[in-house]
Amino acid sequence: MVSTASGPFNIAHRGASAYAPEHTAAAYELALEMGADYVEPDLGITKDGILVVSHDPSLERTTDVEERFPDRFSMTIVDGKPTKVWWIEDFTLAEIKTLDKGSWFDAKFAGQKVLTFQEAITLVRGKAGIFPELKTPGRVRAKGFDMEQAVANLLEKNQMVGTTFEDRPEVYLQSFEEDSLRRLATLLPTVPRTFLIGTPEDGARWLTAAGLKEARAFATAVSPSKRLILADPAIVTRAHAAGLIVVPYTFQEADEMRRFVHEFKVDGLFTDNPDRFPR
Ligand code: G3P
Ligand code: CA
Repeated sequence: MVSTASGPFNIAHRGASAYAPEHTAAAYELALEMGADYVEPDLGITKDGILVVSHDPSLERTTDVEERFPDRFSMTIVDGKPTKVWWIEDFTLAEIKTLDKGSWFDAKFAGQKVLTFQEAITLVRGKAGIFPELKTPGRVRAKGFDMEQAVANLLEKNQMVGTTFEDRPEVYLQSFEEDSLRRLATLLPTVPRTFLIGTPEDGARWLTAAGLKEARAFATAVSPSKRLILADPAIVTRAHAAGLIVVPYTFQEADEMRRFVHEFKVDGLFTDNPDRFPR
């Protein structure tokens, strides 16, 4: 059995995102007040190479970019349809900082800004750990952006490589992309990494005993969607036997979190409602 020193951990998914606009200072501060062990920053990269915090690799869902920069979109195919998107990497940090990231959620959050990764680190450090996810690193690599190196540089600058906070790793990296995790394992071998597994197809590839053993070469944890564990709770024991901890996503209800922690014995979980995490 692989386990953490301090018991199951509570990761605030995009901050306390059930209550405040995801990935804003308001959501992160609330997560800290609610006692989260980790805050999760999802990462994108700007035109001028600055890591910023956003779940989506484009800006239109959670900011007013469409009104502010109506002509700066690209066309891409989403769900089989041509769609306008405002990619983060097509904007400088100065441009992104003019956007409102709070009003889409509730008018009372108007004026919340897109945070840089550095601002997120500064906000959280000393109060919780961070669980950063590199979003679409292969897509931006093809456009000339090295997100893994940028993450390594910033963690090194902040002296957060191989550090602990409250008996746990202070930083836990995540990606859905095997190549990105392999690169992070080379750049930051002492920083643990979880492999996100979202689909039944990827589960069939990676969550068998053989697949988990293979994943252990570049990851220290797996993070299946909770649906994959509900369909096959033995994933948890197989992963533990392979030397991987298990950190599924994404939870809202206290009863379900309790079941995963106490019955399925997961090591931590991502939740939009960190106040409901079972202690
Ligand atoms: O990173 C865990 C979970 O956040 C993965 O899903 O889409 O919310 O980033 P997503
Ligand atoms: Ca995420």
